[in-house]
Order: sequence, then structure tokens, then C-alpha cells
Amino acid sequence: MKALILVGGFGTRLRPLTLSVPKPLVEFANKPMILHQIEALKAIGVTEVVLAINYQPELMMNFLKEFETKLDIRITISRETEPLGTAGPLALAREKLVDGSGEPFFVLNSDVISEYPLQQMIAFHKSHGGEASIMVTKVDEPSKYGVVVMEEASGQVERFVEKPKLFVGNKINAGIYLLNPSVLDRIELRPTSIEKEVFPQIAGEKKLFAMVLPGFWMDVGQPKDYITGLSLYLDSLRKRNSFKLATGPHIIGNVLVDESARIGEGCLIGPDVAIGPGCVVESGVRLSRCTVMRGVHLKKHACISSSIIGWHSTKHVHVCDEIYSNGGIVLPHKEIKSSILQPQILM
Ligand code: GDD
Ligand code: MG
Repeated sequence: MKALILVGGFGTRLRPLTLSVPKPLVEFANKPMILHQIEALKAIGVTEVVLAINYQPELMMNFLKEFETKLDIRITISRETEPLGTAGPLALAREKLVDGSGEPFFVLNSDVISEYPLQQMIAFHKSHGGEASIMVTKVDEPSKYGVVVMEEASGQVERFVEKPKLFVGNKINAGIYLLNPSVLDRIELRPTSIEKEVFPQIAGEKKLFAMVLPGFWMDVGQPKDYITGLSLYLDSLRKRNSFKLATGPHIIGNVLVDESARIGEGCLIGPDVAIGPGCVVESGVRLSRCTVMRGVHLKKHACISSSIIGWHSTKHVHVCDEIYSNGGIVLPHKEIKSSILQPQILM
């Protein structure tokens, strides 16, 4: 079975992290976002993942080469010379996706983190006999997403409305699809949107079906959602593999600590914290609701809450003693000498 991951866009809302690294390679819970997806695909027997990409393909491939061997899965690139939207890349990768077997293939948006009940999705797809299946999830603010109106019992999609201005419903497209090869016959090789052009057409013919995602889901493309997404992810990790989470008198709630990180005496860590490889956390540090990426050095008695600390922050960003930051976005190579009182960007 094959899969395509849509890896376009510049990830502007996660800057400065995405200034040097494409968004799918930004770590989430100590693992690049895209690896969460590739591992889930591998687990249900996908043999080849095609990355549909129009930005920094070399960086991506150099990074993923190692995982092709480690995970024993083929990873190939389908490169656009101009952005083709969310459907055009499927037409471009047609030869890679279709092998004559008639088997459906997965398509994933690259900026969401969720549980991946892909095996259940395959069973659902077989059971309805339509042309395409999409995963949906409930959210409080549906207008930012693609909204799906479906018949509850069968899952048949009645309407698919991308970013509706008026309320249509609260079930939204989670960005995980299983498509029959025939869907490719509906897509021309030009910039085009699967949400605006392809799904409404298939829904009109009553061949589009939706399955409600069991478990958590989050679009982690902006800092606030990234931090919320981490707490949902750690919560689900506790239910599945609680042995991966840290334990001890200095830990509160769900905390993930890479085994190569060093934690000093008298720290209080959690809830909802991820500490990456090679981090050094000196004594008396207090961390809650935050991600500390690989190679960060936190000095004694630092207090960090609701933040993302980018990789190797000590080398590039120096925070002087007795300083605090409230909602600051700090770019590399900065020395912070006075407190950041209000959310702002420090360049
Ligand atoms: N290769 C390629 N080329 N990929 C692209 C392009 C492009 O030109 N444009 C966007 N993508 C990729 C993005 O990287 C992302 O993985 C996916 O396509 C969706 O694009 P976004 O720009 O992130 O769309 P969105 O977040 O506003 O909305 C989409 O995701 C929502 C869920 O998070 C839609 O699919 C909505 O319907 C959905 O609810
Ligand atoms: Mg998105």
C-alpha cells in the first residue's frame, strides 16, 4: 500500500523554528512531526511514502534517508516547480501512486498530530464501497477548517465546505484521506484544491464517506496549538505506553524526557513537558506545559511555562539572570537583558 504526504507551505506561523528547518521536521514530543506519520503508515503495512514537496526537498531527503533504512520503508519525493495546492500534487505523483492493483492509497496533511487509526479506516473504506474516505473530528472553532456535513449512520458526506463563513457544523476534515485510484481521474495537473474542487464533487455523487476519528487531533502549525497538542499527545501516550513517560518525585503529570537528557537536583517538572536529547537542566528548574528541544541548556532555577524552547538555545540565545519573558518569540543569536513584559517578537 502507498501513501502521499502533502508537505507544502513555509510554516510561517512557527517561525523562527521554520526559518532553518521545514515544518514537518520540527520536533514534536522529541520526534520530527513527519516521523509520527511515517511510523503510523509503516505500522499498517504501507511500503512507500511519497512526499509532495515544493520547498527545501534536499534538506528533507537528507534527513529522512536514515529513516528509510531504520523503518524499512521507501520514501520518495515528488517535487513541484510551482505550488500545486492540495490536489495538484496528487496528479503530479500519479505514476508513483498507481500500480495497477486498484488498491486505495492514503493522503495526509503534514501539519496535524493525532491518533492514527488507519487500520480502522481501511475497514471503513471497504465497508462503504464509495470512492473516497476522509477522517473527521469535532472542534469548537470550525470556521478555520473544512467542515463536513454527513449522515450519521452511514457516514455519507452530504456537504464539504472549506472554511465556511457561516456555521454549517462542527465536524471538520482532519486531513487524513483514503482514496481509490479513480479519484486521480478527477484531478488536473494544475494548482488546485482537494477541499474546494475535488471533495465537493465526489460528495455530490454520494461517493464520499467520513469516519469520526476516535481519539485526539490537533493542527500544530502555530505555537499555542502546538503546546495544547503536546498535552493531548502525552495524555494519549499515557493510555497506550505509559512506560515511556518519566516518573519520580520531581515529576508532575505527563512528562517525556529523552534518555540522554540530564536533570539536576530539586527540579519540578510537569505537567505536559517534553525534554529532548542532550538537554542539560540544572538544579531547581521549574517547567510546565512546554517543549525543550534537543541540546538546550537551562540554568539553575529557571522557570518556564507555556513555551517552546528551540534546539540548542543556549548557544544562540542567552537569557540574563533574573529575567522573565511573557509570550516572547525570540529569534536566534539574541541576548535578552531585560524582561519581556508583553507578547512580542525579538529579532
Ligand atoms: N505539496 C504541496 N503543495 N503541499 C501543499 C501545498 C502545495 O502547494 N499547499 C498546501 N500544502 C500542504 C500543507 O503543507 C499541509 O500539509 C496541507 O497541504 C494542508 O494545507 P494547509 O495550508 O495547512 O491548509 P489548512 O490548514 O488551512 O486546511 C487544511 O487542513 C485542515 C486541517 O488542519 C484543509 O485540508 C482543511 O480542510 C482541514 O480541515
Ligand atoms: Mg494546516
